[in-house]
Amino acid sequence: MDVKQLFARKSIDGANLETELKRTLGPVALTMLGIGAIIGTGIFVLTGTAAFGGADHMGAGPAIIISFMVTGFACALAALCYGEFAAMVPVSGSAYTYAYSAFGELLAWIIGWDLILEYAVGNIAVAIGWSGYFHNLLVYFGIHLPPWLLIDPVSVSAAINAADPSRIAPQTLAMAQAAMATAPNIGFPIIFNAPAMLVVLAVTALLVIGVSESAKVNAALVILKIVLISLFLWVGVKHVDTATHWQSFAPNGWKGIMTGSALIFFAYIGFDAVSTTAEEAKNPQRDLPIGMIASLVICTILYIAVAAVLTGMVPLNVLGNAKPVAAALDFVGEHTVSTIISLGAVLSITSVLVVLQLAQTRIFYSMSRDGLIPPAFGRVHPKFRTPVFATIITGIFVAIPAGFIDINVAAELTNIGTLFAFVLVAGGIIILRRTEPTRYRAFRVPMYYLVCPGCILMCVYLMGSLTATTWWRFLFWMAVGVAVYFVYGYRHSKLRTRS
Ligand code: ALA
Repeated sequence: MDVKQLFARKSIDGANLETELKRTLGPVALTMLGIGAIIGTGIFVLTGTAAFGGADHMGAGPAIIISFMVTGFACALAALCYGEFAAMVPVSGSAYTYAYSAFGELLAWIIGWDLILEYAVGNIAVAIGWSGYFHNLLVYFGIHLPPWLLIDPVSVSAAINAADPSRIAPQTLAMAQAAMATAPNIGFPIIFNAPAMLVVLAVTALLVIGVSESAKVNAALVILKIVLISLFLWVGVKHVDTATHWQSFAPNGWKGIMTGSALIFFAYIGFDAVSTTAEEAKNPQRDLPIGMIASLVICTILYIAVAAVLTGMVPLNVLGNAKPVAAALDFVGEHTVSTIISLGAVLSITSVLVVLQLAQTRIFYSMSRDGLIPPAFGRVHPKFRTPVFATIITGIFVAIPAGFIDINVAAELTNIGTLFAFVLVAGGIIILRRTEPTRYRAFRVPMYYLVCPGCILMCVYLMGSLTATTWWRFLFWMAVGVAVYFVYGYRHSKLRTRS
């Protein structure tokens, strides 16, 4: 084995390649892309779980507001680091490409593999969140699908076998029991989340057609989600009664707040997806940092407001279900607004699916161009000019688990993987400032000697707040990744073939 290859770094100049993709995205479109990826299942679904707490973790209570501040701050530090990298290495592939130039091939591979957790596994959780609001909407229009087509078997088993059923949200328990009672039995009951699977396949078809079309659809959906959140805040704030609902502000103290922070980190994921579209940006050096930082700031402000209104308007146990924002509005008698929000949530969570799926295919595209995964992943369709094979494989990889696993499992795995990527990106900035101090940086992290270590410490702390099971799953995934590298990537790497 050639150890030198494992640490071979791709020169940043070499990274600035001609691209086959169309350059169509300006600063506004990139900010829209960021918001499109950020606001989704996290705020619409996981805020409720994180505030109420689940069977195996402690809720933050109304102090989820503080969780949003802590996590927002950690993400702001990471966004600065991504900004510097994106301006310096403006090619698609995001953290993967940055790691190739800062740490060398093995770590680049590790981060590329890790990013599958962020984008593809992340989309599994997003699709499940979408399904919760979609179901709500179907019921409103009087359409009743059989319960066994609306929930995953993992949640059913956890709810039915829970040692303490009072920790399971009443709606989830009722749904699980109904699914078990009606499911066709072929030796085992057939239960899966059909809407979650179907929406992923629909998004895959959209992405095959092309990014420019998708970006336009995304922009419309982003406007919708900002209007929607404003509507919720406007209506919800009239029902806020902090004297009653904030009485026990942080029921589980700092530990509850941090557990909440680690879960709702999911709500912030996506700003970095902007950097994966570098080869489709008109002026990447200037616009990528703008797109990431602007979208993050806008979303952080909205999130803190939503968390305050949501926890201020209803008791906590109203929030522990698959559609907490709609449930809270129904609880205070705002049924029409609840339906509008459900419709809007369905449409706007779709935009997250689009951006994350797009990001995943672009990472595959970059890895394939470097020879670390088979060339088919990098092949661009002659008519659509999109990586069709990578798009379809990603669609299948996301759609199947979306039908069968629990949202929290997918979200926590996504979070640990993304936090790890942030750690490496911040570390990469420190290394490149030392190894290439004179290189031109269109955007520089201010006070990098404080911001980068601060980002690393906060991300590691958040990772430490996730469950041991999530850690084991993460380590298993990474071990599989290293094995795949030595079987395929190590032998086919373009860097190796060239040298
Ligand atoms: N931040 C994205 C969401 O919450 C992943 O859906």
